[in-house]
Amino acid sequence: MIDTGDNEVPWRLLEADCGEVLDDLPAGTVDLVYADPPFATNQVQKGRSEGLAYDDRWPDLDSYLGFMAGRLEQLHRVLAPDGAILLHVDWRTSHHLRLLLDEIFGAGRFVNHLIWQYGLGGSSPSRFARKHDDILYYARGDERWFEPPLVPATSRRMAGMMKKATDVIAIPAINNMATERTGWPTQKPVALLEFLVGACAKPGGTVLDPFCGSGTTLVAAVRLGRRAIGIDRHPEAIRIAEQRLKELGDPIAAADRRAEG
Ligand SMILES: C[S@@+](CC[C@H](N)C(=O)[O-])C[C@H]1O[C@@H](n2cnc3c(N)ncnc32)[C@H](O)[C@@H]1O
Repeated sequence: MIDTGDNEVPWRLLEADCGEVLDDLPAGTVDLVYADPPFATNQVQKGRSEGLAYDDRWPDLDSYLGFMAGRLEQLHRVLAPDGAILLHVDWRTSHHLRLLLDEIFGAGRFVNHLIWQYGLGGSSPSRFARKHDDILYYARGDERWFEPPLVPATSRRMAGMMKKATDVIAIPAINNMATERTGWPTQKPVALLEFLVGACAKPGGTVLDPFCGSGTTLVAAVRLGRRAIGIDRHPEAIRIAEQRLKELGDPIAAADRRAEG
């Protein structure tokens, strides 16, 4: 395990299988888990160049669900009593994982089934195009911090005004030319993570991403003044995440300097 964090920065990266290190984190200390695990695509997910890839092949659905069940139980343990989890998956497994979350968190802890509508990818002549992911939102306990995000209103009556966001989040996927693209496969846009972290993790709180990939969640969390812990078993993912976080500098010191100047 490599711990690239220190006391100077509000983030910590662990290069490991999250299943092997989550039990080392203290119970009840994380305010928000955002987990974007392999989706059970049964493919090697390839990025921009050789070496930027992770294996998402499974012998069968049961082995995938067993992998997820153990890690979701570990994640439940580290959440604070008023914490919550956002599990980002898609049509392949969201129905199975919702039942697993009902078992582990309790059906009464279900908060939302969010749809991330990203609008990229091909269409199909034989069915509706699959252009959204599923984000399952569950609370750890009775209390939960939430700050409803505001989005531009679309009705003519409210033209130019803002309204509270609904379950459908329309944020474009990262396109091939985007400057934020790192080359890591299945990288999510920072705008999506800022939307989720800003709504579901209290300022100054701790956000944990056990499948952090290129570190998008940590970048969003640190930019919004939260602390962040990221775990990924792939050394290249950790290297990219570390580089992105270092490029942010120290946002808290930068904000202080702006206030003084
Ligand atoms: C869907 S990608 C995450 C992408 C990330 N959200 C981003 O924006 O770059 C899933 C990640 O899980 C990692 N992974 C797969 N199995 C893992 C495990 N057992 N422990 C930790 N990380 C794992 C992969 O290396 C991959 O980076």
